[in-house]
Amino acid sequence: MRILGIETSCDETGVAIYDGQRGLIANQLYSQIALHADYGGVVPELASRDHIRKTAPLIQAALQEANLTAAEIDGVAYTAGPGLVGALLVGATIARSLAYAWQVPALGVHHMEGHLLAPMLEDNPPEFPFIALLVSGGHTQLVQVDGVGQYQLLGESIDDAAGEAFDKTAKLLGLDYPGGAALAKLAQNGKVRFKFPRPMTDRPGLDFSFSGLKTFAANTINNNVQDDQTRADIAFAFQEAVVDTLMIKCRRALQQTGLKRLVIAGGVSANTALRHGLAELMQQIGGEVFYPQPQFCTDNGAMIAYAGFLRLKSGQQSDLSIEVRPRWNMTELPPLTRKLI
Ligand code: KG4
Ligand code: ZN
Repeated sequence: MRILGIETSCDETGVAIYDGQRGLIANQLYSQIALHADYGGVVPELASRDHIRKTAPLIQAALQEANLTAAEIDGVAYTAGPGLVGALLVGATIARSLAYAWQVPALGVHHMEGHLLAPMLEDNPPEFPFIALLVSGGHTQLVQVDGVGQYQLLGESIDDAAGEAFDKTAKLLGLDYPGGAALAKLAQNGKVRFKFPRPMTDRPGLDFSFSGLKTFAANTINNNVQDDQTRADIAFAFQEAVVDTLMIKCRRALQQTGLKRLVIAGGVSANTALRHGLAELMQQIGGEVFYPQPQFCTDNGAMIAYAGFLRLKSGQQSDLSIEVRPRWNMTELPPLTRKLI
């Protein structure tokens, strides 16, 4: 079974083909970062228009990469939410129309389920059950994963997501949007000098709050002369606080559930300091941490093709209407054994 996956929920157009026998056989990505750079963030209308321009050519490129014709595609999966409504509608409309024309089933995939399952594309995939730390630009969640579609939300951010906090703090430090990776790079030259708080770690529970860190960063910037070393020291202290906070909550979630496998996914899971910290934590408790290769941490079509493959293979499919869900709770998803509609 070969599934075409289409991701257009935000500022990346991703198209990939997953083959049940051979694995991932095509992966195409176009990033709109340059388009939005002047505005300091994603402009939804510009994002939708660019997805319109890029999706069809990327589908053609993916078919060419896999050396396939459209007749050899058995299903089309697309991101149905959460995300920007206009951007989602572009992908959903193209995917649904192609599936109708090709007379194959279509399926609307949950973007965060895509992220969550992305580590399964690696050579050493995690077995169920596990704890997943989902850290993207829009979400920070701790989830107990017992199987595909068997998700129990253990905790989430009550304000900014971890990626959002990285981006806002990066902006304060004069870095371009999205600044997460650039902030991490700046932090490499940083020294131990400032101490940022570890929000919500002094009380029980698994929720997060990251908006205070951005304010703390703003105050630290205002109170210190901004030379290169100071900026690097602030980036270092901010990153250390985010990583430490995430580690404390992961340890708590693992202790609470007795599980020994941890999956990290979403854009921030590309962060080296976070990966090192969690690897150390899992070594201490005799467990194992799993994460996608860097290109599959941030938004991509491969994770949507793969999540779509698992669900379409089990017989689930969406109906003929073109529907997207800009807000969509992942715990509403059915397990593989239950029909989607
Ligand atoms: O998963 P993703 O591509 O998009 C969403 O679904 O939101 O995540 C994007 C987020 C951005 O906030 C970006 O700054 C952050 O991931 N990010 C990083 C790194 N690479 C990407 N944050 C920290 N360190 C990184 N290396
Ligand atoms: Zn994402």
